[in-house]
Order: sequence, then C-alpha cells, then structure tokens
Amino acid sequence: MWFLIYYTLQNNIISGLFVGQNFVLLKEVDSTNNFLKELVSNSKPVIEGTVIMAENQYAGRGQQQNGWFAEPGKNLTFSILLKPHFLAVTEQFDLVRAVSMGVFDALEPLLGADLKIKWPNDIYYQDRKLGGMLIENMIQGGQIKNAIIGIGLNINQENFAPGLANPVSVKQILQKDYDLRRILSDICRHIEAWYLKLKAGKIADVRNSYLSRLYWLNEEKTFRIKNELITGTIINVCYNGLLVVQNNIGEELEFSLKEIEFVH
Ligand code: BTN
Repeated sequence: MWFLIYYTLQNNIISGLFVGQNFVLLKEVDSTNNFLKELVSNSKPVIEGTVIMAENQYAGRGQQQNGWFAEPGKNLTFSILLKPHFLAVTEQFDLVRAVSMGVFDALEPLLGADLKIKWPNDIYYQDRKLGGMLIENMIQGGQIKNAIIGIGLNINQENFAPGLANPVSVKQILQKDYDLRRILSDICRHIEAWYLKLKAGKIADVRNSYLSRLYWLNEEKTFRIKNELITGTIINVCYNGLLVVQNNIGEELEFSLKEIEFVH
C-alpha cells in the first residue's frame, strides 16, 4: 500500500538536467526500490532520472538481505532510475563508484574530511554509518538496461534502535536540523555530474576519485575472513568491485562483500 502526496513532472526544487526532474513523493511505501521497480516493469516508459522519495518506508531493504530502518519524516529514503545502457554488466561497479561519489560530494561541504566511502558503497562519518545504497540492476543482452539506485541517509534522526551497526546522523554530528529537500537536490545534482562523467568515458577519474575517498585505505587494520582475524591493508578495488587487501606477508588478496568483514 502507498499514498501519493506530491507528483510533478517539472519542478524547481531540484536543480540539474534530468536527475530529479521527475519527482514523486510518497507518504508511505514498503520500499522506494520496490515501487520504482514495479513502475518500470508495469507502466509506460519511465523517464531516466525519475526520483521516488518516501516519508516513511515500512519495509525498507538494505544490502545482504538486511532491512533499512529510518524514522519517518526525518531521513532521506529515495530511489533514482538510471538507464546506463552504455555499461556492460562487467562494468557495473563503475556505476556504484559514480553514485557513491555523487553522494559523497553532496555531503562533503557539510561534513568535511571525516566523511568517507566504506567499500563498497556505505557512507561513513569517522567510524559510524551515515547511510548506504542498494543498487539493483536490470540486465538485457549483457548491458544494464535499468538501474534502481536506492539511497538511505540518516539526516535528522536523533535516536537509533540498539543493535544497528553503529549509525550516525547529520543532526548528531552538527547539532542542527537539515532540510531534506535541499540535501536531496544537492545529491541529485552531484550524482548526475558523476554519471555524466562515466557516460563520457572518464573511467579513470571515477575510479581514482572513489579509491581516494575510501575508508581505511592504506591503513593497517583487522578483518574477519572465514571466521579468522587477519591484519591487512586495503590497497585497491578491482575494476569489478572486489576489494584488494594486502596481508602482512605481502600477498594481495581479493574479496567480495560476503567474504570479508571489517573488525573495529
Ligand atoms: C545498506 O546500507 O544496507 C543499503 C541501504 C539502502 C536503503 C535505501 S532507502 C531507499 C531505498 N529503498 C529501499 O528499500 N532501500 C533503499
């Protein structure tokens, strides 16, 4: 069940060329990713850059089958439709990089040097999680036909349920409420800019920028791998998104998200 409270094709809330120009605000929905996916599969063509935002998601989804919990009206929970037909499935991690950079660039003027991207696509402030992304690609003929970019960011929430993995909000950091639409607008503008760079083939820029913002890059840290603790250093991210960690005997090991855990 969902309730539509605002729908416009053109509006002046969100700047930029196409990301956010078609903007739908829902009072309540299970998940904005689900809603956008259904819209794309069931109706007339949905234009690229469409943004679905919800005041309340009652079944928000996170990575690795986790839920995503956000206090209604206080946070950003939204999904963007992109159509990166120019990307092969094998290059899908470049989209993760570009979107992460867009979110990072929108928040960095507010939060400064303690903001990082935790591989693969979490947004961290110091050692705490400010937000994350769930990117769901629809593939056709080896290319990405549609990408549903779901983004959740803790903005004005002050209390979090116990048990969540070390969350933090912009309000907890800066002691001030922020206008959700204003931050959303900045995020849309920056995601669009990075997406257009990717489209223009500036892959090295996208990859280098993402790598240089990584949490724990070039620092010796502890990781859990197959239930064992190892000491290692993140030195790179492969083209396909695998994390490259150098262990203390100099071996370079590659990991997928399921295979490695950061230990604090
Ligand atoms: C994560 O870090 O686990 C990813 C969180 C992604 C949450 C967002 S909120 C908007 C969109 N709709 C969802 O159901 N999930 C994403």
